Amino acid sequence: MMYSKNVMEHFMKPKNSGTIKNADGVGQAGNIVCGDVMFIFIKVKDDVIMDLKFKALGCVAAIATSSIVTELAKGKTIDQALEMSNQDIVEALGGLPPVKVHCSLLAIDALKEAIYDYLKKQDREIPAELERAHERISKEVQGIEGKFGNFVEKQREFLLDKK
Ligand code: FES
Repeated sequence: MMYSKNVMEHFMKPKNSGTIKNADGVGQAGNIVCGDVMFIFIKVKDDVIMDLKFKALGCVAAIATSSIVTELAKGKTIDQALEMSNQDIVEALGGLPPVKVHCSLLAIDALKEAIYDYLKKQDREIPAELERAHERISKEVQGIEGKFGNFVEKQREFLLDKK
């Protein structure tokens, strides 16, 4: 089997798919290799992530990792969520084929961006590591816009239901 049982379960029945109205933070990430994009929405109370949803146009690995990231981050504090690594996600899924590991970065990056957005809106200090991650992730989003052009905008509109 190409994918672990856990990957297939999260792909076939993703958890927390959708959007959150009036989310406290919204993060977007894109994959420069394939042009896929993803959004994660978070609702935060007393610095604890109470709810998360994701919307993604991506492959099996991208959907499965988004699903598990939303499950693992729910109930974590902002600091705990920022400590989650891509390795944690891949391990929780029971592994990914090496060729698909880059896809798994999308979910953790979108989560970091949602937290960045939340902290910015709160006018809070951004940890240096998160600031560096934000620069890298937003550069990648700009990169896919340059590489895939209109296609990226269409995906974004589709995911966010804008007409
Ligand atoms: S092929 Fe695009 S995210 Fe996996």
